[in-house]
Amino acid sequence: MIPVARPILGVEEKNAVQEVLASGMLASGSRVKEFEEKFAQKFGATQAIATSSGTTSLQALMFGLGLGPGDRVLTTPFTFIATTNSILGTGARPVFADIDPRSFNLDPEQAEEILARDSSIKAILVVHLFGLPCLMADFEYLAQKYGVDLIEDAAQAHGAAFAERYVGNFGRAGMFSFYPTKNMTTGEGGMVVTSDDVLAKKIRLYINHGASERYNHKQMGYNYRMTEMAGAMGLVQLKRLDKFVATRRTHAQFYDQKLGMIPEVEIPYIPPQCYHSYNLYTLRCQRRDELQNHLKEEGIGTGIHYPRGLHQQPYYKELGFGDYSLPKAEQAGQEVLSIPVHPGLNNEELQKISRAIISFYEARR
Ligand SMILES: Cc1ncc(COP(=O)(O)O)c(C=O)c1O
Repeated sequence: MIPVARPILGVEEKNAVQEVLASGMLASGSRVKEFEEKFAQKFGATQAIATSSGTTSLQALMFGLGLGPGDRVLTTPFTFIATTNSILGTGARPVFADIDPRSFNLDPEQAEEILARDSSIKAILVVHLFGLPCLMADFEYLAQKYGVDLIEDAAQAHGAAFAERYVGNFGRAGMFSFYPTKNMTTGEGGMVVTSDDVLAKKIRLYINHGASERYNHKQMGYNYRMTEMAGAMGLVQLKRLDKFVATRRTHAQFYDQKLGMIPEVEIPYIPPQCYHSYNLYTLRCQRRDELQNHLKEEGIGTGIHYPRGLHQQPYYKELGFGDYSLPKAEQAGQEVLSIPVHPGLNNEELQKISRAIISFYEARR
């Protein structure tokens, strides 16, 4: 089976982790610190705070922003649920605007309609879905016009750029995930980046029981720290990130050429100024479920990111989000299919995948 995603780990990662194991110092230490420094440098922020997952990065960030009951955060319904659970966790509520059906990202026009009539909104949380940057010039403008924070969920978008600037560092803060399916991995892990030193300090305390020094607890907090093994792995993966992204882009170009001609399929759309990092290569396609089954029979793994809008999730319906009508997100949920694009694919596999998709439609015309 060709997996839809696969981490690329080599001797350097293995040696880096083994060194940590041999040292016996397994909890967050010098390697995590170095990883934070190098990550901040790479993405042009003054601060990077490593955590145990993308989810804990998001939670720490929402806490740091001081969100609470009565506050609302404008965001997309078409994302992984961690994005919005982090808002709910503070007592604040997400407000959904529909997506642009071509990019699958939050539509700035729909966002503005809501911002113009809802003054309880404290922040816009954009998600660079699949590694495709949101239209950051528009969102920067909106954040300024309505006096709200702009924050970025770049969990899927390491190495993606808007107007030649890496995403994750446009707004007040951004975060990344290092889950094994992402463009770089630490097993589990996450990173908040920001150039707001006060915010960074709050987040740093929050991920360490609110402790400024041992047993001196200044604020609310938990243990959301990254392990030293993860930090060691992250340092190696960060060095390899540009190459990983370049390979993903080469694979995407191959698919664009092969699949772009199929009338039943829409290949990923790239708006102007956007540099896609292809964490996922996601098609919009007719007969999606049939195609997915066909590819499975051919030994090709795929994924549906995501089968429904968050407002359609059972738990969110219980919370009262069921009244939303977000037709673009709902339709996308019926039609999207992600095919393997990871750097571990070889030419034969890329050929096999594209041929399987082409022949599926040819046989049904
Ligand atoms: C858009 C988005 N946000 C947040 C997360 C949460 O990251 P993690 O799985 O590292 O907790 C993910 C992970 O899949 C994601 O895709």
